[in-house]
Amino acid sequence: MRPQLQLLAFDAYGTLFDVHSVVTTCEALFPGRGGELSRLWRQKQLEYSWLRALMGRYVDFWSVTEEALTYAMRTLELDVAWAAEVMESYTQLELYPEVKASLGALSAYERVILSNGSPRMLNEVVSAAGLTGELVAVLSADEVRSFKPDPRVYALVLEGGLDRASIGFISANAWDVSGAKAFGFWTCWLNRSGAPPEALGFSPDLITTDLEALVRYLGS
Ligand code: 2OP
Repeated sequence: MRPQLQLLAFDAYGTLFDVHSVVTTCEALFPGRGGELSRLWRQKQLEYSWLRALMGRYVDFWSVTEEALTYAMRTLELDVAWAAEVMESYTQLELYPEVKASLGALSAYERVILSNGSPRMLNEVVSAAGLTGELVAVLSADEVRSFKPDPRVYALVLEGGLDRASIGFISANAWDVSGAKAFGFWTCWLNRSGAPPEALGFSPDLITTDLEALVRYLGS
């Protein structure tokens, strides 16, 4: 049976925006090393966000991303003098190809972004991608000075007055889907990379490979 949803909350990085589109800049600066820099950078960015949330030592996601880049560049013995240029690529992330049309096709629902990104970096990337008109709000974890999967971040979506059961959460990050499911949202995991499921005990309600499949499911 189809869920009775009123609002769809989308994760940003990895879900709507391809974090690995930074490879183009990384590869231009460090030929042959772009892929590994991008992978280690993303992995460390997530780790640092979780560590800072656990330590109670919040800095915003832009700073987390800078710190993770410094670690990744040092580890790979790349010249950190280029870090600012690499960071700039984070404001120009590419949308996955089906995102814009799919968000448009889901206009029967209120659509928001719920992301660990700081307000400034989210607004920049949303506006550069021309997504502003598709969203009623861009919610940032910065409001509670923590990061997903802290339940206080998912709770930001409830501030509009809806109950948890009427909210669908969509993410390509399986850890994020687990957090949202534990919080009580209906969840969809966009398994864009063919990853194995998490073994945390919170299974997604729907697993797809892209947003077009979600549109078909919710529209059926
Ligand atoms: C987000 O956008 C970090 O991908 C994660 O919240």
